[in-house]
Amino acid sequence: MKPHDIRPQPRNPEAFSNAHDFDAGIDDFDAVHGLFSELRSRCPVAHSNDLGGFWLFTRYEDVEHAISTPSEYTTAVQNVVPRVATTGRRPPLHLDPPEHTPYRRALTPLFRRERMDHWNTSIRGMARSLFSPLLAKGQFDVCRDFGYPLPAMVLAEFFGISAEDADRVRAIGNDFTIALETMDMEMIQKTSLVLYETAARLIEDRKANPRDPGVDPVSALLEMRHNGETLPEDGILGTVRQLLVVGIIAPTTFIGSMVIHLSRHPEHLALLRAEPDKIPAAVDELLRLYTPYRGFARTPVSDTTVCGREIKADEPVALAFTAANRDPEVFREPDTFRLDRQDEPPHLAFGRGPHMCAGKGIAMVMITAALELFVEHVEAFEITGPVPMTTWPEYGPLSVPVNITPVAG
Ligand code: HEM
Repeated sequence: MKPHDIRPQPRNPEAFSNAHDFDAGIDDFDAVHGLFSELRSRCPVAHSNDLGGFWLFTRYEDVEHAISTPSEYTTAVQNVVPRVATTGRRPPLHLDPPEHTPYRRALTPLFRRERMDHWNTSIRGMARSLFSPLLAKGQFDVCRDFGYPLPAMVLAEFFGISAEDADRVRAIGNDFTIALETMDMEMIQKTSLVLYETAARLIEDRKANPRDPGVDPVSALLEMRHNGETLPEDGILGTVRQLLVVGIIAPTTFIGSMVIHLSRHPEHLALLRAEPDKIPAAVDELLRLYTPYRGFARTPVSDTTVCGREIKADEPVALAFTAANRDPEVFREPDTFRLDRQDEPPHLAFGRGPHMCAGKGIAMVMITAALELFVEHVEAFEITGPVPMTTWPEYGPLSVPVNITPVAG
């Protein structure tokens, strides 16, 4: 099988805008928010010549409109900033409805209520088994030792593969992500190919040994019938390839961001320990404050004007969920942690519209399990070293070395 053959459209960069309103290279944990806040007030639709040139929407209203209106903003040309032109289009993220719909229909039953009951128990067990030895040591790296292995363990169970295979996939996924961040095209191609080969092997195995499509994602895609037909082979391959890495990096960086916040606000650990029923609201509030994606992208299907800026049909637009979620037009005291936002619109950390995160349920269980463990066992986090950051399209730390003060007794 070959990678999905829907290729990125050729573009004519000469015709593109060359206004340069901001440098995309700002990657400090707090400076990113400073930049977004300044852009939102000075220039809510901004252009940068960095990363191949792109527009940036920073207001909630503009981001929400773009993700909810695929007839105006397509995902089939460029779905992240920076653009990686060497790889094929992978469903479901890279397809617009109605082409996109059968892939989502195949995946939806995997996240139904009974399956989520299973994940609740299983992920909590995994999180505890990872965290207990770290707690005993008192000194560890939140991302490398906890935030990174946890989604890999979840991935192993999601795909029904061995822990060793999941570790290999995770390592390749990591190399792929680093290659994307450094724009190492040779490495991008090499790692992407290995991921495609892994996906192809999984598909061959499930064809020979079908599993319950309500539990196994590959079998679900193979079983799916759309207008009486099976899904195209390259579409199934692209989907499995995407699923292998799509859920790994955001939980890692977000768990790191949560700990940076808690290291600055030990009183929030104490508050949640006293009132654990507030943990779900705290998870949502932390997701709003430290939204791990700033560079999922769309392309307008025709010339358009937003906030007075003329955007041409072919020009990529990054949707800064990270910025939209701190829009003062929508959220009171947008930079402040508050647990009384019930009357405000929901945050956009998992997107909205047809491409809204398919793995949201599983991601929420992972994040909640992590916060519950921190609240139960940690009095205070002290950050003991540098905090290197991921770059576009993500936001958040890749490493957070800490010493912890455990809860007494
Ligand atoms: C904190 C963790 C996560 C965050 C914040 C997150 C966020 C997002 C966002 C914002 C999108 C929409 C992108 C767009 O509109 O262009 C998305 C899509 C997606 N996510 Fe997640 N995600 C997370 C974890 C996961 C996990 C664990 C999985 C898998 C188990 C997953 C699977 C997917 C898939 C398959 C899509 C594509 C959906 C589609 O195109 O229909 N995500 N995610």
